[in-house]
Amino acid sequence: MKQLLLIAVIASLIIACGNAGADQNSGAGASATAAAGVTDEGKKIYKQYCVTCHGLYGDMGATGAFNLQETELTLEERITVITHGRNTMTGFSTLLTEDKIKAVAQYTFELKNAK
Ligand code: HEC
Repeated sequence: MKQLLLIAVIASLIIACGNAGADQNSGAGASATAAAGVTDEGKKIYKQYCVTCHGLYGDMGATGAFNLQETELTLEERITVITHGRNTMTGFSTLLTEDKIKAVAQYTFELKNAK
């Protein structure tokens, strides 16, 4: 009888662990897809408008473009630079909507992990 109880406890532990694992996985999956929606759009914009100076990984530095892997700017500050430009970097306020500028600004945070 004692043995049976032990088996039941072990079985329920295994089931509990299995469920916890599944929950964690689906949670991560959902947030990963949500984030991918924003960064996918940002990545597309980045490839179209930014690689010429910053390079695919943000560290090309053509025309003195700052290294986006190393920048410490906040999201707001990046949005300001991208919108209005700074020195040799032209602003994108006439080319991109606010949402798109925000998306590409968010994408620049991904460059830290590039390469
Ligand atoms: C014509 C070349 C050029 C293009 C195109 C360009 N940049 Fe830049 N970018 C620069 C230069 C040059 C700087 C440094 C500006 C300075 O000297 O103040 C810079 C600076 C930045 C900074 C500030 C970095 C810091 O640490 O201060 C961000 C953020 C940035 N660029 C993002 C972008 C994004 C996003 C795009 C595409 C939408 C883009 N840039 C397109 C040339 C460019």
